[in-house]
Amino acid sequence: MTTRRQFLERTSAVATAAIVGRACAVAEPSSFGTPLPIPELRDARVGRGSIDLVAAEGQHAFVPGRPTTTYGFSAPYLGPVLVLHSGDEVQFSVENRLGRNTTVHWHGVLAPAAVDGGPHIVIKPGDTWRPVLKINQPETTAWYHAHPHGNSGRQVYMGLAGMVIIKDGTSKELGLPESYGVDDLPIILQDRSLDRNGALLYAPFGPGGMAGMRGDTLIVNGAVAPVAKAPAGIVRLRLLNAANARNFDLAFSDNRTFHVIASDGGYLPAPVAMTALTIAPGERFEVLVDFTSGNSVQLATAADTRGTTGMMGMGPGMMGGASGGGAGVLMRFEVDPSLPSPVKSVPATLVALPAPAPPSSISRRQISLDMGPAMMMRGMMGRGRGGMGMGPPVGINGRAFDMRRIDFEPKLGSSEIWEVTPNMMAHPFHVHGVIFRILSIGGMPPAPHLAGGKDTVLLDGPAELLMQFTQPATGRTPFMFHCHILEHEDAGMMGQYATN
Ligand code: C2O
Ligand code: CU
Ligand code: CU
Repeated sequence: MTTRRQFLERTSAVATAAIVGRACAVAEPSSFGTPLPIPELRDARVGRGSIDLVAAEGQHAFVPGRPTTTYGFSAPYLGPVLVLHSGDEVQFSVENRLGRNTTVHWHGVLAPAAVDGGPHIVIKPGDTWRPVLKINQPETTAWYHAHPHGNSGRQVYMGLAGMVIIKDGTSKELGLPESYGVDDLPIILQDRSLDRNGALLYAPFGPGGMAGMRGDTLIVNGAVAPVAKAPAGIVRLRLLNAANARNFDLAFSDNRTFHVIASDGGYLPAPVAMTALTIAPGERFEVLVDFTSGNSVQLATAADTRGTTGMMGMGPGMMGGASGGGAGVLMRFEVDPSLPSPVKSVPATLVALPAPAPPSSISRRQISLDMGPAMMMRGMMGRGRGGMGMGPPVGINGRAFDMRRIDFEPKLGSSEIWEVTPNMMAHPFHVHGVIFRILSIGGMPPAPHLAGGKDTVLLDGPAELLMQFTQPATGRTPFMFHCHILEHEDAGMMGQYATN
């Protein structure tokens, strides 16, 4: 028998070896073995244009044989993968059996704010919400998750999240893998803190609370160190970081090259060859991995030190470094040559994607993601409350989130450049209701895999983001923009905009 501690020590040794890019001869953890859970697929067309979800409590065993109380959408933990077709109208129904308020946000799906599921669109216990969404955007991977005011961190942590696949036929045209669960795999990355009985711990506001809730157990689709069977060809991984706060710095244990084909908003112009990929909370990337060689491989993450550095006068222990954020193996792939694998090569090009060309007269807005001393000081100067008492003192432009305050009113149909500056640490910045383009990040043009459509971006330095507002929002149901570290969002690093 291997104890969990031994397992974690061994997996992190494997990951460290992998991440430094050495051939990795470390013994494999004996605990690999749970098959990668593949969430049920719900295609809106199969459901005659409707998708029904029930948010409820359940029991899920992260550690085999040790079930713990979780939340899920029509499942004990997480929810089905939803397939929506561009051009279709989809009738959703979301029943709340949680016994507390929730909301469900379609993150990355372009729809009017009235059906976006932000904090204003509360589903009370026992109620059913029935939004109709007209899907109209390029093929991509999006997701859905709980977004209640001040309680998103806890509810997503408990399991209220799932993947969305938007289809428009491009996969077929490009000859990309699209056989769900075979050569097209949902990979939902999270980290959790479990006690010795395997029960979920959510304690984000301890001494490590400034950097958000992080845990030392890495999970994929709700399982610890699962194994996926891969056909001996090209496999598409739909990577979603659904963690509350941690970034994953992904690489394969044999350091193999993979190709990024899509980001949040859809396909890139051409596959981008990479050996390491950072994915921040809220982000998605689709990658193609070549298993033709037949070799097994592990997907690992390096340590996420972004919550532990650059913080004035705060040591690693203060910022969540004490537990969570470490290097580790996420999962393992084993090749099964008997599985069908119709795709044998990576396409040379994907879709036409014009370079962003903002007019020089475009209006600009400054957005500062504030926390710590800067936020407290601004708070003291009377520009807003610091969000004290419900987590770290955080806000945007010196003010904590206020549901009754509309921060910006861009014109529907207009474009703007948002100049966003992170303070104290790296923050994943997310905007509802738009797919934006990165004009610059840290004073540089974006790397090729960040140059396509985005709705979430990890900011370690200032960035210029080109927004285009195509979806209406009102004062009653505005769109949110926020840090996707859910504890920062809950504590007030969020603002809202309506279109006029
Ligand atoms: Cu993924 Cu406002 O959220
Ligand atoms: Cu969103
Ligand atoms: Cu943040």
